[in-house]
Amino acid sequence: MNFVTVVLMTLPLVCLGQTKTPSICYITKEQIKYIGDTVELQCFVKTAEYFPVSWVKINRDPDWNVSLSTGNSLRIRDSRFSIRHKNLDSTYSTYTLQIKDIQESDNGTYKCEVFLAIGNKITEISVLHVLPQPVVTSGNPIQFIVAFQGKSNKPSWAGQPHSPHNNQHGHGHQKPQQNPVEITSANAQTDSCPTIFTRKQWRARKPLKVYYNLLPVEYIIIHHTVTESCNMERKCIPIVQNIQNYHMSDVKLDDIGYNFLIGGDGSIFEGVGWHKTGAHTYGYNSRSIGIAFMGNFENYAPTKKAVQAARDLIECGISKKELSLNVKVFAALQVQQTLSPGENLYEEIKTWPHWAEAPEDS
Ligand SMILES: *[C@@H]1O[C@H](CO)[C@@H](O)[C@H](O)[C@H]1NC(C)=O
Ligand SMILES: *[C@@H]1O[C@H](CO)[C@@H](O)[C@H](O)[C@H]1NC(C)=O
Repeated sequence: MNFVTVVLMTLPLVCLGQTKTPSICYITKEQIKYIGDTVELQCFVKTAEYFPVSWVKINRDPDWNVSLSTGNSLRIRDSRFSIRHKNLDSTYSTYTLQIKDIQESDNGTYKCEVFLAIGNKITEISVLHVLPQPVVTSGNPIQFIVAFQGKSNKPSWAGQPHSPHNNQHGHGHQKPQQNPVEITSANAQTDSCPTIFTRKQWRARKPLKVYYNLLPVEYIIIHHTVTESCNMERKCIPIVQNIQNYHMSDVKLDDIGYNFLIGGDGSIFEGVGWHKTGAHTYGYNSRSIGIAFMGNFENYAPTKKAVQAARDLIECGISKKELSLNVKVFAALQVQQTLSPGENLYEEIKTWPHWAEAPEDS
């Protein structure tokens, strides 16, 4: 049996009769997918050829519903999305929205609309549930096992910025802000510094709390994100957003855990940024800058561009006096029980001039 036959068997009456009233006969009601999967949402309409048929994503803020397609043309610039229009016969046609490489941000409600006249639309909705990839297969089991042991619901790699264990240096200098404001480092780009995508540019959530590091910072700790890798702004931004969502909503951190993140194309994303305390390496957060390479470097080597970006960022930090002149660079695995930043990246950073075998006080 082909699709049309199956659908025709279950059509609402309005779709079976001879009436010429446009109607939505069928819509994919619900789909459950993992991040990275592909989904097709189908809207099957009757006698709607003279009326625009659209797919719209309904957002939590209803003023920001996003029009994805009208007719057979796509309204957004995202190559993961495509629209297919097919006339099944002179009465019925389908509008199929395909989303490839599903991201967490695709989770939500989609509506198919037939626009009859101003104030007169017919609408049906479709719900897409996006599940995270099962963690075990994502390549860094130790980090996650460590992460969810212990009394705190924060993982041990995150630590707590205000924990006394966390900070022998300068504990008293940290200033939790009562009403944190979104601070973007507009001044993060001096002449000798690489371009940094600010929090505003990647549309970060506001932090719940902000803590400050004592300057200059002595250590750089290199991590990997154990997410997909990315090599362009459009692909990296959703990953950075997902990491922040994961850290804030699931791990219950105050903000994204890293100070900076680096994409495969060498783009640098401001995490908590310079002179703020991240939550990436228990015991070191308040005296280090955590730089996370996006991807899983147990499995493959970092790109030359990403490596160069990190090295430029470190030189930039030194020139801005954010980092000590003799800042030491470590892999996360040198100071805690984790596979991060992955064997390939660890081998790479061992060749950097600032790499050190161990912090003096460990
Ligand atoms: C967005 O979609 C919701 C659900 O259909 C609707 O209630 C709301 O009015 C829409 N907002 C706009 C601005 O069209
Ligand atoms: C996904 O969307 C559903 C409703 O469409 C919502 O209840 C759920 O919280 C969302 N999940 C995430 C992770 O945003």
